[in-house]
Amino acid sequence: MTQTLHTPHISDAQRQVEDDLVDRVVASFDHCENPRLKLLMQRLTVHLHDFIRDVRLTEEEWNQAIEFLTAVGHITDDKRQEFVLLSDTLGASMQTIAVNNEAYEDATEATVFGPFFLDDAPEVTHGGDIAGGAQGQPAWVEGTITDTDGNPIPNARIEVWECDEDGLYDVQYDDNRMAGRAYLHTDEQGNYRFWGLTPVPYPIPHDGPVGQMLQSVGRSPVRAAHLHFMVTAPEYRTLVTHIFVDGDPQLEIGDSVFGVKDSLIKTFEQQPAGTPTPDGRDVSGMGDGTWAKTRFDIVLAPVTT
Ligand code: BEZ
Ligand code: FE
Repeated sequence: MTQTLHTPHISDAQRQVEDDLVDRVVASFDHCENPRLKLLMQRLTVHLHDFIRDVRLTEEEWNQAIEFLTAVGHITDDKRQEFVLLSDTLGASMQTIAVNNEAYEDATEATVFGPFFLDDAPEVTHGGDIAGGAQGQPAWVEGTITDTDGNPIPNARIEVWECDEDGLYDVQYDDNRMAGRAYLHTDEQGNYRFWGLTPVPYPIPHDGPVGQMLQSVGRSPVRAAHLHFMVTAPEYRTLVTHIFVDGDPQLEIGDSVFGVKDSLIKTFEQQPAGTPTPDGRDVSGMGDGTWAKTRFDIVLAPVTT
């Protein structure tokens, strides 16, 4: 439940000073020729000033906030995107997704993109292995991609990416190897299938200012176990989502970036060592020989919505 703040009493004269400043800053954008930019800047001004006034922000706190954002900027480079982590841990990413992906019939729900997507992942054929050397329990993933009337969508592009059993994405390895990611296309019947890894919970990078922020407020950096998907097909809304693992204790504890949606929790059926695999692949030499299988049927919304 949203908390209501108890702003201390301020005099009418003080309130007038504060209101006047907001009005002057809002008016400073009046001549902006781009109407959308004008709206964004004016409403940002109103909300930012509301926040400062609501919590009666001290000058020391404002300086700390500037220092914090400076640190977020300093640690950010082409591999480490601390601003994305900040947006994600504040729920701003999921709120933007909610605003832009209103539910459409039974279309699959979207969730957070995260900072670990690469656009030059290798292609795999049907039944191919996306692990590319990343370690973990093999998981057979299959499903269909259809429209909201149940018609198959052939040739949809599916990008998938995930961390290894140690909770690391390939971009966090120190040898520049690409692993745990690939793309493939649906066949004529809208089917897809590939080998991945059974996802495990892992902490978002927390050795920087966002990690410090989480620690200061007593929050965990751990994300519920998941496998990322991005699905694109002409004339359909691009879907950025994950599947989560039913039974993962982190689902109860909470996902550090608020990405979980019940419809995205899937059963990864555990298969004892020696169980024949769907495509005859021999996984006996991989880990303890066990494997898992799951199904994720994806429904895409049309782009016009
Ligand atoms: C991820 O799932 O890859 C992720 C999402 C948000 C922040 C950090 C990582
Ligand atoms: Fe992830």
